[in-house]
Amino acid sequence: MSSEYLFAHKHILGLDHLSVPDIEHILNTAESFKEISGRSIKKVPVLRGKTVVTVFFEPSTRTRLSFDIAAKRMSADTFSISASTSSTTKGETLADTAKNIEAMMPDIIIMRHPSSGASNYLANRISTSVINAGDGTHEHPSQGLLDLMTVKEHKGKIKGLKVAIIGDISHSRVAHSDIIGFSKMGANVFVSGPATLIPKKIAHLGATVCRTIEEAVKNADVIMPLRIQKERQNDPLIPSFREYASFFGINRQILQIAKPDAIVMHPGPINRGVELTPDVADSFQSVILGQVTNGVAIRMALMYLVIGGA
Ligand code: CP
Repeated sequence: MSSEYLFAHKHILGLDHLSVPDIEHILNTAESFKEISGRSIKKVPVLRGKTVVTVFFEPSTRTRLSFDIAAKRMSADTFSISASTSSTTKGETLADTAKNIEAMMPDIIIMRHPSSGASNYLANRISTSVINAGDGTHEHPSQGLLDLMTVKEHKGKIKGLKVAIIGDISHSRVAHSDIIGFSKMGANVFVSGPATLIPKKIAHLGATVCRTIEEAVKNADVIMPLRIQKERQNDPLIPSFREYASFFGINRQILQIAKPDAIVMHPGPINRGVELTPDVADSFQSVILGQVTNGVAIRMALMYLVIGGA
């Protein structure tokens, strides 16, 4: 990295907005923060005196807890509101809710929202730093970055790898961030899934669309099945989970056509027996829990960088 490099992002809205040096800098910063989580006293004063508010309008286990843990490990004061406890249930608009949160002068707002573009909308209206924790089917940047970190950790590089993303590409913000991120970093991304769940425009993001799962997985270094996002489908787009599993589920047989040292990833939550079999989810090739561990380091890095850390 050039000594003249400067991370100049106040908001983290998507990987689309980040350059290759930005992504490399975030990954390097996260790698240096990861060690803190292994200490017996897991706390550093990096965000002491800073206020972090998490605003989640959709359910979350990993992302919400991970941001909360990351902020606390850096000594920030953390507060959270969710859809059911916010005044949006009384008719307040998202912009008014955000303006009211801003009036209490937090330093960072982390938001998950069911509408694509909600984080951009917020970032254009308030002066507080906004980190997108997943907006509709648009992007999930911290997940994309933790996926990049996990692959780099296991493979020593990202450039030139074959990454196979399988399943519900249409509704997956993770798929969008991953396709953008892995392509930017020089990996070759292949996608496969039911035709009803592969958007026509996905090739514009840099992915090669495969007709069969075998084509996508053959000689892959990384295999990432995605959850079927039933909550985002107005009409069912697959006949049944059983049928989906028989055509697109990752099992031992499919895994054998990937490289012998291929890793299996999943953003979670996983549906065992649907997008991957339990033996694959728990196999030595699975790095799913490692992704979760790296999520804390990535979120520490993001919060540190948006408030002006070097
Ligand atoms: N990966 C992910 O976004 O998980 P959660 O929905 O549990 O946050």
